[in-house]
Amino acid sequence: MDLPFIEPFKTKMVEPVYRSTRLEREKWISEASYNLFNLRSDRVTIDLLTDSGTGAMSDSQWAALMQGDESYAGASSYYNLKNAIKEITGFNYFLPTHQGRAAENVLFSVLVKEGDLVPGNSHFDTTKGHIEFRKAEAVDCTIDIAYDFKAQHPFKGNVDLNKLENVLKKNPREKISCIIVTITNNTAGGQPVSMANLKGIRQLADRYGIRVILDSARFAENAWFIKTREEGYANKSIREIALEMFSYADGMTMSSKKDAIVNMGGFIGFREEDLFKKASMFNIIFEGFLTYGGMAGRDMNALARGLYEGTDFEYLSSRIRQVGLLGATMKECGIPVLEPFGGHAIFIDALDFLHAVPQEEFPAQTLAVELYIEGGIRGTEIGALMADRDPVTRENRFTGRDLVRLAVPRRVYSDNHMDYVAAVAKNVFERRESIKRGLRIREEAPILRHFTVELERL
Ligand code: F0G
Repeated sequence: MDLPFIEPFKTKMVEPVYRSTRLEREKWISEASYNLFNLRSDRVTIDLLTDSGTGAMSDSQWAALMQGDESYAGASSYYNLKNAIKEITGFNYFLPTHQGRAAENVLFSVLVKEGDLVPGNSHFDTTKGHIEFRKAEAVDCTIDIAYDFKAQHPFKGNVDLNKLENVLKKNPREKISCIIVTITNNTAGGQPVSMANLKGIRQLADRYGIRVILDSARFAENAWFIKTREEGYANKSIREIALEMFSYADGMTMSSKKDAIVNMGGFIGFREEDLFKKASMFNIIFEGFLTYGGMAGRDMNALARGLYEGTDFEYLSSRIRQVGLLGATMKECGIPVLEPFGGHAIFIDALDFLHAVPQEEFPAQTLAVELYIEGGIRGTEIGALMADRDPVTRENRFTGRDLVRLAVPRRVYSDNHMDYVAAVAKNVFERRESIKRGLRIREEAPILRHFTVELERL
């Protein structure tokens, strides 16, 4: 008999899972102004707010931490990281930053200016935030099928090359900062981008003389999807695939808190020395000296190991299988989930799930609150709240997509935890007809409002 699949790791240290009563949760979420970011984590039973910085490090990473070199300049930890980045991504130059958005801040300080356009595939909210903060515009060129929740497409994160070429053709070259391709496409549901698409983007970029930057937070998961879905890659290793993906880019930003399985950290990878030098000045101003850039030596050491562990095929298979298990169990209960299931998260279609709640009352946020009240699950809204207001008209941006994301931390929860989450969602699904009203905004920030918004129940 074939032996069953097992996780390629075991547990060495544990942390309690907090249980609570419905009454307590109703009180706590009201005190948190119906914003799950305001909850204390010990009031959450299963925390699926994000897969960012929430992974469990390995014993090897903890050992590397102890050997961190905390020298201000030229630390051995910096060179450990430099070697790992070179080997995994192929980039010769890099700058460490404290996390992914810091990498965006430093790189965009060089590349993005007022009035620019930055085409790409559904930019992540901090990416869009950094672009709009500079009075430039993020142009979403994702393929249309990505917005059809049930459509089966192996690479739903892809860039529509026609949309991209239109932007490049209709605008002067100086107005395009760069093309940003997010792998995997988080906003579109953790969906991968194919190697063929990356090649096509490269060809267009060459034709118009524009740089391609990969937002690489989940590059290893993207490589896993290429290996398992795209013709010609089944026999290639994840690292070979990653190297090829990066070969089509001029640079990368990285939030190491995802696929490099560390709790904090990021970096920028560059092919050109000139761009690296220009960005170096901003790194020193915003992050720190070139050989630590906002990270402790020990963190760079752990990150260097994490880059290797995060690109291990067995590990990636266990992770993406577990996310898929959550999706499949919820789908069996009839819950409308985005398909194919994403690499890092399951996305519930809240407009379908809570169809009686008008979009002006934030159905996805309402559903996220209900999942918390029902069973202490913390997910996050990826919808109208996160989309912020239009910078010009100040109107809410209702895109017809209002999702609850359940992001699964790496190497943290068991399959039983996933079954518990699905059971909680099923209970809410069974009483969905009784949920007719949503939430109203009491207070909000002008940008990235979902982090701090205060809401009240209608
Ligand atoms: N790019 C992508 C695709 C991301 O998903 C994130 C973060 C960032 C950039 C920014 O990185 O958090 O290290 O500053 N995503 C987290 C999430 C927060 O929950 O999806 P960061």
